[in-house]
Amino acid sequence: MRALTVVPSQAGSVRVGEVEAPVPGAGELLVDGVSLGVCGTDREIAGGEYGEAPPGEEHLVLGHESLGRVREAPDGSGFAPGDLVVGVVRRPDPVPCGACGHGEFDMCRNGRFTERGIKGIHGYGSQQWTVEADYAVRLDPSLERVGVLMEPTTVVAKAWEQIERIGNRAWFDPRRLLVTGAGPIGLLAALLGVQRGLDVHVLDRVETGPKPDLVAALGATYHTGSIADITARGEVDVIIEATGASSLILDAMTHNAPYGIVCLTGISKSGRKIGIDAGAVNKEIVLENDVVVGSVNANLRHYELAAQALARADHSWLERVITRRLPLERAPEAFEPGGDDIKTVIDL
Ligand code: BGC
Repeated sequence: MRALTVVPSQAGSVRVGEVEAPVPGAGELLVDGVSLGVCGTDREIAGGEYGEAPPGEEHLVLGHESLGRVREAPDGSGFAPGDLVVGVVRRPDPVPCGACGHGEFDMCRNGRFTERGIKGIHGYGSQQWTVEADYAVRLDPSLERVGVLMEPTTVVAKAWEQIERIGNRAWFDPRRLLVTGAGPIGLLAALLGVQRGLDVHVLDRVETGPKPDLVAALGATYHTGSIADITARGEVDVIIEATGASSLILDAMTHNAPYGIVCLTGISKSGRKIGIDAGAVNKEIVLENDVVVGSVNANLRHYELAAQALARADHSWLERVITRRLPLERAPEAFEPGGDDIKTVIDL
C-alpha cells in the first residue's frame, strides 16, 4: 500500500512509498482513503519543525485532514461499508487528565495527548487506514468532493463554540465579525460567521487570486490594509485571528470593541520579537472586559457541529476553497510554496 511518510525532525524527508497495509483491531473500521488535506502543520512537520513518530518507529504516516469510505465495519459499530467518514485527529492522554477524562481531549492539560499524523500515531495519508469506530464521524454522502474540509471546519466550530460560551457570560448580541487571514481556517471561520447572520469582514494581504471572490461570494466584505482601518468604520464585536502574525495579534487585542472577544487560532513561529506596552494592553483588556482566548483542535462534539455546518454550506463554494488537487504520487509537491493556493488536497 502507498502512503505519504516523513521522518519527523528531518526537513525534506517527505516521501510517497510502500508501507504495510493496516489490519483493523477490535472495534475498528477499515477505510479506503478518498482524500487528504494539507495544512500549515503538515508543512511544519515536513520542514522538520514539528511532529513525532510512533514510539520506536522512524517514520510517521503524515496527514490529519482525512476523508475516506468504509470498507469493513464491525457488527454493532453503527457504520456500514460505503459510509463516507472522517477520522478524529486527537486521542486523550493515557493518564487521563481531567479534561481528557471528560471527553474534552482538545483541552488536554498534561500535553501527553497523541494526534494522528502529527504526534505519536500514524496519520490518514495512506490508501487505506483504520480508525476506532468511536473516533470516526459519518458525513452526508453529498460531501464526497468537499468532506476533506471537515477537520479544519472542526477547528473553527470549536473556536465558535468557545466564543459563544464566553460571550454568554453576560448579555451577548454580536453584530460584526472580523476574521484576519483568508486561508482555509479564516474562510471557514467566516462561513460559520455568515451562517450565524453576522456582518462579516475578512482581512488578508493579497489583492488578487481567489480569496477576494470567495469572501464576496459568502456575502462578506474583503479588506486589505489594517485592522485599525476596519474598526475605524465600525466596532467589531468578535475577532477571529487566523494568521498567527505577531503584529496582527497585537492589533486584534487592542482594536476590538469594549466587551469584545478575540479568538486566536493561528500557530505562530516563535523567536520574532515585537515591543509591546503590556501595561496599556492590560488596561484596555481590564477596563473593557475583553477576552483573548486561544483555541486549538476539536473534540467529538465539534465534529458533529462541523458536519452540520458543512452540510448547510454551499458545496460549490466549498469546492472553490480547494484550489489544488494532486494524486498521491505527486503529494510531495503539496509542500512546495503554491502561489495563490488556498487548500491543497491529495487524492488517495
Ligand atoms: C490541527 C489540530 C492540532 C494542531 C496541533 C492543527 O493543524 O488542525 O487538530 O491539534 O495542528 O498539532
